[in-house]
Amino acid sequence: MNQEIFTARAHPNIAFIKYWGNRNSAFRLPENGSISMNLESLHTTTSVAVDPNLREDRFTLNGEIRSGSSFERVHAFLDLIRNKASNPYFAEVKSSSNFPSSAGIASSASAFAALAVSAAAAYGLDLNEKELSILARMGSGSASRSIPTGYAEWYASDSHTGSFAETIAPPEHWKLWDCVALVEKSGKKVGSTAGHMLAGTSILQPARVASAPSRLDLCRSAIKNRDFQKLADIIELDSNLMHAVMMTSHPPIMYWQPESLLIMKHVTEYRKNGLEVAYTLDAGPNVHVICTNKSHLEAKRRLGEIPGVLEVLSSPPGGGAELIHSSQN
Ligand code: DP6
Repeated sequence: MNQEIFTARAHPNIAFIKYWGNRNSAFRLPENGSISMNLESLHTTTSVAVDPNLREDRFTLNGEIRSGSSFERVHAFLDLIRNKASNPYFAEVKSSSNFPSSAGIASSASAFAALAVSAAAAYGLDLNEKELSILARMGSGSASRSIPTGYAEWYASDSHTGSFAETIAPPEHWKLWDCVALVEKSGKKVGSTAGHMLAGTSILQPARVASAPSRLDLCRSAIKNRDFQKLADIIELDSNLMHAVMMTSHPPIMYWQPESLLIMKHVTEYRKNGLEVAYTLDAGPNVHVICTNKSHLEAKRRLGEIPGVLEVLSSPPGGGAELIHSSQN
């Protein structure tokens, strides 16, 4: 029997205002809203074919058949879609990224955004962008922000249908770059899903969450006005606040390595001397250095010379998740 294959592509994103901690873990309803930029140069491509002959889902990641926790997460996500579509059949899922997961770039955002788009199409669900963002959020919170194009804001809400992301500015609005200084290429020790669970154990988390709306306002207007100095101040503060929560959780999570701090110190020094650069770190030791178009080549060169930096990846703002292909098997 011929199966139709649906293929989608999505980009990972870097958060300027971070998501850390859920008010409802099962639904991934975040404690606070967040803002991010999609990364054009990096992407995940995923194809899905529903197959009535399969007795279980099959998941291949970068050419390797997966079992265990990554398979379970994909399988649970497909169950949500099967329920919505009232279609019990299993699916063959093949996914690959053009960046190694060992590069320490969060791949769950692009992975679940691409899977949401390809699987919804394969199961015949006709979802709009908001509905796809809600669906992707159920797989990985940050994936909700990889559905819309460019700079996106994900809203915190008590309701399932109120928590989705939408574009606040398209990629061409402001050509910023994310230069990622890699200091470690191995996988992270505490994954974000486990980290979110610990956020509430830090006495700093309530203060971080209560003050998030004002940082969201500042970040949104810095993007709208293309005000780099204001953006730099707010993203560095927000990253430091999230890492302060991580470090003061029980048990504490320390994602920074000595090299991470060294890079952060260099970045603030470069900015004092006129280079438009600012740092932000996700749940890992690699340092994302946000740069203006005029500063990014010089920033990339200088970052590459800092001791301990293994490689510097770079990307301008990217588009949203898209269905790129459908074909008969
Ligand atoms: C530090 O979206 O990876 O990168 O919902 O459990 O998949 P799950 O978590 P995830 O968390 C991302 C955390 C972060 C900050 C951010 O991207 O906003």
